[in-house]
Amino acid sequence: MEPGFAASEIDTSKPHPARMYDAYLGGKDNYAADREAVRQVLRAFPEVRAMARANRAFMQRAVRFLAGEAGVRQFIDIGTGIPSAGNVHEVAGQVAPGARVVYVDNDRCKLGCAHAWSAGTDARTLSACMR
Ligand SMILES: C[S@@+](CC[C@H](N)C(=O)[O-])C[C@H]1O[C@@H](n2cnc3c(N)ncnc32)[C@H](O)[C@@H]1O
Repeated sequence: MEPGFAASEIDTSKPHPARMYDAYLGGKDNYAADREAVRQVLRAFPEVRAMARANRAFMQRAVRFLAGEAGVRQFIDIGTGIPSAGNVHEVAGQVAPGARVVYVDNDRCKLGCAHAWSAGTDARTLSACMR
């Protein structure tokens, strides 16, 4: 379990799919190369932004249902990614304060982001491949 990563592991000169996903969602964890790639993708496939938002909204609806109606209090988010708003611990915590969340990703850079945005919460991060 090692959430830290070296800044040298991040190449901001090339677009990265996770940072592009963040850009589709209107997040702030992306760079000029990511935003330019997003512009090019959206020129060819304008529906991609709506698809990313629908995917994210589904995750949030599912967590809200599980924490609310189903009474789930422990969550494992496998493939956390880097989006910085509306994450599982935030959505679950709104419905069920005290719900516990573990974020798992096999990309240490993304897990580093999760570690940063979940700092000061009960959420934990775990670097692992789920295959
Ligand atoms: C598109 S992001 C998902 C973001 C977020 N969960 C959401 O739904 O908005 C997919 C993530 O899955 C991670 N991932 C892919 N294969 C994995 C594996 N075998 N084990 C753990 N994480 C994996 C990637 O590193 C990436 O961060």
